[in-house]
Amino acid sequence: MIEISNLLKQFAGERGSFTAVDRVSLTIPEGKLFTLLGPSGCGKSTTLRCVAGLERPDAGELKIGGDTVFSETGVFVPPNRRDIGMVFQSYAIWPHMTVLDNVTYPLRIKGLPRRQIRDRGIEILKLVGLEGLEDRAAPNLSGGQQQRVALARALIKEPKVLLLDEPLSNLDAKLREQMRFEIKALQRRLGITTLYVTHDQSEALAISDWIAVMDRGRVIDGGPPEEIYHRPKNRFTADFIGQTNILEGKIGEVAGRKAKINTALGDFVCAIAGEAKAGDAVLIFIRPENLRIVTASDASPENTYPGEVHSLVFLGECVDCQIRSQALLLKARLHPSCGLHEGAGIRFRVDPDAAICIPAC
Ligand SMILES: Nc1ncnc2c1ncn2[C@@H]1O[C@H](COP(=O)(O)OP(=O)(O)OP(=O)(O)O)[C@@H](O)[C@H]1O
Ligand SMILES: [Mg+2]
Repeated sequence: MIEISNLLKQFAGERGSFTAVDRVSLTIPEGKLFTLLGPSGCGKSTTLRCVAGLERPDAGELKIGGDTVFSETGVFVPPNRRDIGMVFQSYAIWPHMTVLDNVTYPLRIKGLPRRQIRDRGIEILKLVGLEGLEDRAAPNLSGGQQQRVALARALIKEPKVLLLDEPLSNLDAKLREQMRFEIKALQRRLGITTLYVTHDQSEALAISDWIAVMDRGRVIDGGPPEEIYHRPKNRFTADFIGQTNILEGKIGEVAGRKAKINTALGDFVCAIAGEAKAGDAVLIFIRPENLRIVTASDASPENTYPGEVHSLVFLGECVDCQIRSQALLLKARLHPSCGLHEGAGIRFRVDPDAAICIPAC
């Protein structure tokens, strides 16, 4: 539905030109919610603004619903002629208008009959959960309600594509979580192809069908949320999404798909990629929830190491623990009933299947 090919966008700066989007290629399938996730300044909004037509790319090609809207060979369709609805971080609600007038603005500038505009406005307000508020002055709404007005206004023309740039970042934590689910449910119900931009990894994991991870203008990883979380393809993704212990090591023995890896903890057994061989330098990623405390009688010596509890932070549903082992400080997420105290001597284990090993390059 949205095809981005070799997109390049540079900005002129004091010290020459700066590449904000560096040859990005992505295909966003029809009806899916696709997220661009990455740290501040990595080029997410610039990519989205290029799709919207608010920035003119320097090279590449953009298609929406099969129609070329930008091509380096000379095509540039202006934003108002692209079949899109857009919501920004600042909702850009017009304060002097009612809720209904805000929402129906895109239809009024098209000059549709007044009755039809009102009916459609009321219908769309119902869809976003604002029925009965059509005649309220727009500023007299809560942050969450204003956000819904912006969403309704983006949807009223029934665009092929919805573009959302950090739409929840002005809301408080509780409302943000609630709106996440509402946006996801609405997107599913309408089946509208959506490109969503956020720097918030938990938001991206919660709502997306697919996440593209961006760093310094490039897409460096991509996949469904569970894959991005459980099988990151590089150190940046492992570090940026959730918390990860990263162990450096060198492959010792290889036996089938598994290998014994020499690390600062000692020998560590885990699965390796097909082409890896003895002597290769690797990185091992271990999520804190995959580090388990074991009792002395635990029979399996594989991937079991001695350590000492360095710190414990009670977080309600879990305890964040740091374990010192050799010269390493490892993060573990434990059950609140773990009964440990700082300074306690322990043994911990990592299931070989719960660790990811990638070439260190
Ligand atoms: N109009 C502009 N002129 C010059 N540089 C710009 C312009 N717009 C963006 N940039 C630069 O391009 C880079 C990417 O910006 P962009 O807004 O796409 O980042 P982002 O990933 O959306 O970040 P954030 O999470 O902070 O919104 C940044 O370094 C930014 O300073
Ligand atoms: Mg941005």
